[in-house]
Amino acid sequence: MRYSYALVPLVSAMQAMAIDPDTWYFGNSLFYLGPPSGNSAITKATYSIVPPTVPSGAKVSNTKDQVWVSVWVGASSSAGDDNTNLYQPIFNWSLDQESQGCSASVDEWCVAASTFTPSGQLGQPYVTVPNNTPVDFEIAVENEKVVQTVIMDGKVVSKESDALDSPLKYLYSSNECYTGSGNCGSLAGYYINNLTVTLSAADSKFDQVMALNGVTDDGFTSSDGGLTWHTEWVKVNSVDFDSSSAVKSDFSSS
Ligand SMILES: *[C@@H]1O[C@H](CO)[C@@H](O)[C@H](O)[C@H]1NC(C)=O
Ligand SMILES: *[C@@H]1O[C@H](CO)[C@@H](O)[C@H](O)[C@H]1NC(C)=O
Repeated sequence: MRYSYALVPLVSAMQAMAIDPDTWYFGNSLFYLGPPSGNSAITKATYSIVPPTVPSGAKVSNTKDQVWVSVWVGASSSAGDDNTNLYQPIFNWSLDQESQGCSASVDEWCVAASTFTPSGQLGQPYVTVPNNTPVDFEIAVENEKVVQTVIMDGKVVSKESDALDSPLKYLYSSNECYTGSGNCGSLAGYYINNLTVTLSAADSKFDQVMALNGVTDDGFTSSDGGLTWHTEWVKVNSVDFDSSSAVKSDFSSS
C-alpha cells in the first residue's frame, strides 16, 4: 500500500540541501492516521510520552553546526502539503542544549509546543524534561484555533494557540535527525501511551485508516460508535539514524 510520508518540514529541508550539505533523516517507525470519512475532522488528540534515553553516538565536527534529534506527534489538515500547518508539540535534543535556549543537561530532552507553518516554525521556549518523566500532550481545536498543551507532573509547562488553517484530517508520529556537521547516532525505542483521538462526527471505520509503519499498537478501538478512538499504546522502535536502511530522507514511500 502506498502511504504518503507526510513530513512537512522536510520540504524546506530538501530545498535547503541544495545549498547546504547538512542532511535530515526520518526514522521509519511511525504511525499514520487519517483521514476520517466525509466531513468529519479530528478535534482533539491526547497522549503521553516518556521520552527515550537521549541519542547515543551523536557527534559534530563543528560545534557551531549542531546535530539535533526530535520526537513528535503532529496534526495537520493535509497529508504533507507544505502549504498547511503541522501542529507538532515537540521533544528536541542537541549536544548543545543551550543552542536551543534550553537549560537541560546533555542526557535530558527539551519539550515545547510548536507549529510548522508555511512561513516558518512557531514555538514556545523549550523546557527541560527530567529523565523518566511522562509528558502529557493535548492538541485541541477550540474556536477555530488549535491549542497545544504540554503537561508535566500535572502542571502546564508549555502552551500555544495558533489559527486553525483548515480542519484537521491527519495525525502522525515521527522522529527526525538533523545531522548538522556530524551524525545523530541511535535513538532508543519509546511508547506513545494512552492515545485518544476525538472526531467531529462519528466514523465507525476510522481504524481502517490507522497505518502502522514499523510500529505496533494495542488495537485502535472506539466504544462510542466511532466518535472517540483509543489505543493504550503505540510502540515505536529504535532507529539508527546513521544506517541508511533505518531511515528515510525522501518525501514519499511505497
Ligand atoms: C532543535 O534544537 C536545535 C539545536 O539547538 C535547533 O537548531 C532547532 O531549531 C530545534 N528544532 C526545533 C524544531 O525547534
Ligand atoms: C488517559 O488520557 C485521559 C485523557 O484523554 C486521561 O483522562 C486519563 O487519566 C489518562 N490515563 C492515564 C492512565 O494516564
